[in-house]
Amino acid sequence: MSAVSDVTPSSPAPSLPALDVLLGPGGAGHLAGTRLEVTPREEELAAFYASPPGLHVRANMVSSVDGGAWGPDHRSGTINDAADWRVFRVLRALADVVLVGAGTARAEGYTALDVPRGLEHLRAGRGPLELAVVTRSGHLPAALAAGDRPPFVITDEHGAGIARASVPADRVLVVGPDDGARAGAPLPSQDLPSPTPGPDLRAGLAALTDRGLTRVLCEGGPHLLADLLAADLLDELCVTTTPVLVGPGPGRIVAGMPPLVAGAATGPASADPRRPRLEHLLHAGGTLAARWALR
Ligand SMILES: NC(=O)c1ccc[n+]([C@@H]2O[C@H](COP(=O)([O-])OP(=O)(O)OC[C@H]3O[C@@H](n4cnc5c(N)ncnc54)[C@H](OP(=O)(O)O)[C@@H]3O)[C@@H](O)[C@H]2O)c1
Repeated sequence: MSAVSDVTPSSPAPSLPALDVLLGPGGAGHLAGTRLEVTPREEELAAFYASPPGLHVRANMVSSVDGGAWGPDHRSGTINDAADWRVFRVLRALADVVLVGAGTARAEGYTALDVPRGLEHLRAGRGPLELAVVTRSGHLPAALAAGDRPPFVITDEHGAGIARASVPADRVLVVGPDDGARAGAPLPSQDLPSPTPGPDLRAGLAALTDRGLTRVLCEGGPHLLADLLAADLLDELCVTTTPVLVGPGPGRIVAGMPPLVAGAATGPASADPRRPRLEHLLHAGGTLAARWALR
């Protein structure tokens, strides 16, 4: 994802680069060597990110070359660039709902979303671009809670009690807690804090689907991404790697405790790693935009 301020309709668009096709689409090489020039309607680039009908969950993250998920200001805007932004805005235009963890909503200053200007036609008559925030605490950033277009809040009973104080009740999607997924899991070591289950993310996605929001774009952050991967809820992961080195401070694009469920989709380093399939790889000025399929 990139700094939210980058995609407000009033912000000036940075000069967008053409993208070289290094691979794809569909992992095929037949368009390799071609170039996706910037066009006002971005239909060619959007075709590279077409998704099947029905519920489709895509994450879009940016990483520095040395694996950092944010820059020195703790925001991803300092590691992204115009090539990332070009992909980012097309992905938003294609989405029904942007899904973020409350940590990202707070760190990046999310407010109600607009479809990136000039790309409305990519929605093919779908509704406004919605925002859904996942939280255990139920605490939303003040700017988001005070806005006139409240987000959906995906939370459990505990968080719902708090969230209903800041958004209308019909925007609070109470799901979980997600304790069923941990049934039969090995007990955590006594050295580790016992994780709070939190809302059932699968049920949260089902609640969005019930509202016609099937094209889900997760913009992070790292804890939410880890939980979606652990629950095997992600269909694809788009990762932009920018030619930046941030050093050892910032975290990776996934974070948190290893899943407790034996055989979960992702696991600790010793578990069998998953092997996503490269759908396409685009390039501009050292920045690589990859689309990885997880199914
Ligand atoms: N590189 C990128 O593409 C990218 C993308 C997004 C964010 N970031 C960066 O990542 C940093 C934030 O990291 P983060 O890991 O804290 O982000 P995060 O995952 O968005 O936030 C963690 C918080 O989100 C809520 N949350 C996440 N998963 C949940 C789940 N399964 N159930 C219930 N609540 C859940 C919880 O909120 P409550 O505390 O309210 O319970 C949790 O404390 C920022 O510096 C941001 O700039 C980078």
